Amino acid sequence: NADPNADLRALVRTIPDHPKPGILFRDITTLLLDPAGFAATIDRMADTVAGPFDLIAGIEARGFVFAAALAHRLNAGVLLIRKRNKLPGAVIGVNYALEYGEDRVEMHADACAPGARVLLVDDLIATGGTAIAGAELIRRAGGVVAQAAFVIDLPDLGGADRLRAAGVEPVTLMAFE
Ligand code: PRP
Ligand code: HPA
Repeated sequence: NADPNADLRALVRTIPDHPKPGILFRDITTLLLDPAGFAATIDRMADTVAGPFDLIAGIEARGFVFAAALAHRLNAGVLLIRKRNKLPGAVIGVNYALEYGEDRVEMHADACAPGARVLLVDDLIATGGTAIAGAELIRRAGGVVAQAAFVIDLPDLGGADRLRAAGVEPVTLMAFE
């Protein structure tokens, strides 16, 4: 019953009290700095998902790193889901609730062909608000959100369950309580 990803888990750094007191922040920058660790992360994500995919959608900012490497590995394109007012062309957007206030993700309205099979990717799923908003965007653009992949799940925050209830199956490499 050994954790097959214990080696990668050990490369994630935990920073207490960031961004606020009481939060244990799971920091993937240390995983990215490790060549073998980053390569194994992409290999294992690629082996876990059920392709084929036309596009890998990465969520700004840390999601971009994993999405780009996975797209290269899976012979798919990269779709950028960005925070508000970053994209130059005509966009569609979805607002979502944060603990305090609201955020918004956007994508180019023409980025996704109707019926395209899209894998949604981010570094981490917490409440699931960001991923659910990203999935909603892709669907509005006519794409099919075939699956979602995350390096880290924070199961206590319920995001993976919420995403599944929204019709998208999440796969994750590791969980932190
Ligand atoms: C973090 C993380 C996910 C999101 C997860 O991003 O990378 O995108 O929060 O939280 P949720 O499941 O509760 O929505 P952050 O907003 O810190 O953006 P960044 O990658 O640009 O730093
Ligand atoms: N790490 C990185 N991003 C996050 C976290 C975390 O622990 N919680 C919510 N977003």
